[in-house]
Amino acid sequence: MEAQYADRFPQVYDRYWLPYPRRIGAALRELHQKLAPDAERRMLDVGCGTGIVTAAFQQDGYEVTGVDISAAMLARARERLGAAATLIQADASDFQLEQRFPLAVSTYDIPNHIGDLDRIRSYLKCVYAAVSPGGWFVFDVATLTGLRSINNAQVRETEDAILLYRGALDEAAGRGIYRISGVTRAPDGRYDRFQVTITNYVVPIDRLLDLVREVGWQEPYLATTSDLTTPLVDVDTALAEQPRVFVICRHP
Ligand SMILES: C[S@@+](CC[C@H](N)C(=O)[O-])C[C@H]1O[C@@H](n2cnc3c(N)ncnc32)[C@H](O)[C@@H]1O
Repeated sequence: MEAQYADRFPQVYDRYWLPYPRRIGAALRELHQKLAPDAERRMLDVGCGTGIVTAAFQQDGYEVTGVDISAAMLARARERLGAAATLIQADASDFQLEQRFPLAVSTYDIPNHIGDLDRIRSYLKCVYAAVSPGGWFVFDVATLTGLRSINNAQVRETEDAILLYRGALDEAAGRGIYRISGVTRAPDGRYDRFQVTITNYVVPIDRLLDLVREVGWQEPYLATTSDLTTPLVDVDTALAEQPRVFVICRHP
């Protein structure tokens, strides 16, 4: 797993993947202030990557903690968040923290990275243990519709990178693999070869919600990425149309 997000990937991630986490970081901060206006300003970001969402909270005065499996992503998060952030290299389905948090978030398809439902159950349990009573957990998950966009091939060419993206989703096997390869510009101006292969797993949303309840989270609701406060009513239509949805749930 670590190898998936190693080397030059943080640079490429921040170049191409930044808009969604930046937008959703601001939306999550607003959501928390609506759900728990009096809560302490401390948060945990599980699968924090380069810390884009984490930074949205930090900029609003939150004390932030990030967990990620990739040392390379955490190194970039450290540059972004500075010494005040607590950053921990750990597997999201196997970690334990001393502190508990009034809010945990986890964005950009972390359950789809984690794998099968047993590992996802462990992830939900680890986060449960890290959230204080009455606290919230807000995370997104890619739908099958979203994962179908893995079936794609495209070239992106900019001043600092030429990247070829190729992917294929095997729906019967419940997983998709995509490869990004090409060259990126190093700090010394030369171009380095770059390649990552990333696996995303299909996560059935009804089974995910069963696990959320089984672990102890209360009153989970689904929402779209453009409106986190309104529980989805027509879930089937949303799952058919949206690339990802949010699960919002509370620690009893
Ligand atoms: C698509 S990035 C999302 C990063 C960040 N949440 C954001 O929204 O920008 C996925 C992140 O999940 C991390 N990741 C994947 N599997 C993980 C696992 N089992 N435990 C912890 N982190 C994991 C990767 O290292 C990567 O940083």
